Amino acid sequence: MTSHTRPIGVFDSGIGGLTVLKHLTKVMPDEHFIYLGDTARVPYGNRSADTVRTYAQECARFLAHHNVKMMVVACNTVSAVALDTIEHYLTTLGGTHNRTSVIGVIDPAARAAVSTSVSGRIGVIGTRATIASDAYAIAMRRISNGKELSIHSRACPLFVPLVEEGWTDTRATRLIAEEYLRPLIAQEIDTLVLGCTHYPVLTPLLNELMPNVALVDCGACTAVEAAHIVDAQQSEGLHRTNIDLYVTDITPAFGMLARQFLGMPVDDPVRVTLDPAHFETSL
Ligand code: DGL
Repeated sequence: MTSHTRPIGVFDSGIGGLTVLKHLTKVMPDEHFIYLGDTARVPYGNRSADTVRTYAQECARFLAHHNVKMMVVACNTVSAVALDTIEHYLTTLGGTHNRTSVIGVIDPAARAAVSTSVSGRIGVIGTRATIASDAYAIAMRRISNGKELSIHSRACPLFVPLVEEGWTDTRATRLIAEEYLRPLIAQEIDTLVLGCTHYPVLTPLLNELMPNVALVDCGACTAVEAAHIVDAQQSEGLHRTNIDLYVTDITPAFGMLARQFLGMPVDDPVRVTLDPAHFETSL
């Protein structure tokens, strides 16, 4: 397999990362994508950083086994706490693996938020683990280029199960969203980073509750940056989008949620195990 035909690997704690894959396929329609959703162990967002790192390395091992030329870490929680773990792991594999580009969603969304915000008053919402890591605020301050920033973060753990329940605009979701967003609205933010794979599905409701706030979708920003890297690698393309879906558990709601997150019907996924014993000898 030449680097032109090697696939792009994308992984997430579950199928929320399909909201990122949706943008990747839009900007790179000719690429072959391998998507891994760790649906047997989702959610990652309430777990310790140590556990997320262990899980992330197992996902990376699976994608490395498929000889991907790039790894897109669609999960905000993994991007926030385990990007360096994945990069380090790939260097230990040697061969072509230590030249595999790894891109997370935090830096692209942080860059977009800093350039979008006029007042410098930026909100960030995400899982508990993402918010506890402070990864977005650290990234925004690093790239602020002297721009004064006032960053206000809030964990919104109930949004993930609400979206997975299909409750994107019920009275209950609206009340919970109002409660979560109140402190951010009080801080007069002009930009809000949707720092979790599931939150773009709530865009209509969030726009309604915060009409003057620009929403930053990390999937859209990450896809643009990923496409630049792939361009630099001179992809020839396959002239058709090709997606292979792998999950660690096929849940009853898979088809319905996958269609909602990806914006189109999906083929049946293949169920896989991430058991290290499975891959140790084959890398
Ligand atoms: N994919 C996760 C994220 O973007 C949300 C779901 C989870 O908690 O695993 O942070």
